[in-house]
Amino acid sequence: MNLHTFFIDVGGGQILRGLLTWSRIGNLPLAPTTGQTRLTSPIGLATILIVMAQPSSASPGRRFNDDVVAAFTRRYRRQPTVVVRAPGRVNLLGAHVDYNEGWVITGAIDRAVWLAAAPATNGILRVESLDFGATASLDLERLPPPVPERNAKASWIDYPAGVAWALAESGQQPAAMDVAYGGNVPIGAGVSSSAAVEMAFLLAWEAIAYGESVTSDGAIRDGAARAQLGMRAENGYLGVQSGIMDQFSSLHGAAHHLVFLDCRHLTFEHLPMPENARVLVADSGVRRRLVDFDYNDRRTQCQEAVAILRRHLPGVHALRDVPSHDFEHHSHHLPMDLRRRARHVVEECERTRAGAEALSRGDLSVFGALMRHSHLGSRDLYEVSIPELDVLAAAAWSAEGCYGARLTGAGFGGCVTVLADAMAVDGVRRAMTNAFEQTFERRPTIFGCAIDDGATVLGP
Ligand code: GLA
Repeated sequence: MNLHTFFIDVGGGQILRGLLTWSRIGNLPLAPTTGQTRLTSPIGLATILIVMAQPSSASPGRRFNDDVVAAFTRRYRRQPTVVVRAPGRVNLLGAHVDYNEGWVITGAIDRAVWLAAAPATNGILRVESLDFGATASLDLERLPPPVPERNAKASWIDYPAGVAWALAESGQQPAAMDVAYGGNVPIGAGVSSSAAVEMAFLLAWEAIAYGESVTSDGAIRDGAARAQLGMRAENGYLGVQSGIMDQFSSLHGAAHHLVFLDCRHLTFEHLPMPENARVLVADSGVRRRLVDFDYNDRRTQCQEAVAILRRHLPGVHALRDVPSHDFEHHSHHLPMDLRRRARHVVEECERTRAGAEALSRGDLSVFGALMRHSHLGSRDLYEVSIPELDVLAAAAWSAEGCYGARLTGAGFGGCVTVLADAMAVDGVRRAMTNAFEQTFERRPTIFGCAIDDGATVLGP
């Protein structure tokens, strides 16, 4: 949601000032801007002047916005016609349950990808990545084959290529486009830098193809369909059999609210973050590459467990459908490794729903305990943790004022997400840094993050 400062000229030199949280007033579109654009419109007797709220010059968002616009202008010698921001996300509960059609609790964060773009010609996508310090171009009618068919590791340009591929597969040939993009979502750390890139490219392509009022048949309008398209890029082009959580969270985040998503029905609720709670992300510095690790195996194991359980529980289509008491009755049919994996998912589904209830009551102690159990399940049953994440999580648990902590994202490296009391943040940070340094003789990177709005087209 955008915040706009409004001024109402009530006459006699008097100006009434306030904040609007709408993106439209009547049918007056507020073309977002990073400049000084003002829109005036007579409304009743008053004149409303709307000035887009400008982040302060120190705000990283403003800086990245300016950087991608400047890079675009430098490289392509014209102004972009669209600027998009798509955030990363933290995952507070619901580890490896999205592809089991369960429930997750996430939040979009104030670290994002900014992307400046304009239409181009000849069916070519030209891209400059500020983060990789690299450029590439793709013939959108002759994309390279999907990553698994190339027997290669995915490179940065495969993420935009994956979105183009998924758009084409859905019947919408992506338009030629020039792009410059960059941002501050740590790459490969478990806070969904890839989903942020995918959603940024998708929104830019939609904005370029359909403009502001996307209504034509076949246009991708619906948030769930956008998230599915991003997931399709991961599954079909990049070769990662991931679920929908990351893309959905990047699109549907809301400032100061967590997203409680039902990954089967793609329905969600925004749950307010209690005011005294803060989120810290502690990056182990261990980089995972989903494509190279056991993520896809975990998903296959879950499918195998469902196939076996279904012989005894005919209504089961995914592990989401297995209540824990049924699981206790029938788990002996599963081989030991599948039993551990499935137990984690069954318990995690229950934890996530209990977490949503706890959050609605503002009960952060219960919520935090659920996060701790989620980490333990990820470590002992799902086996996706690593010692670096265990040390960070354990240090956080024993620090005063920490409600809970758990690995975030796929695991196998990356980050621990911590929920702590606002007054305790420094102490929790110190406890994690000390424990990590003592064990691994280097420092983790720890940053606080605000829960922020989802992806938006900011305008030119
Ligand atoms: C990665 C995937 C998500 C989800 C998590 C684990 O972030 O992209 O779809 O499966 O791992 O919860």
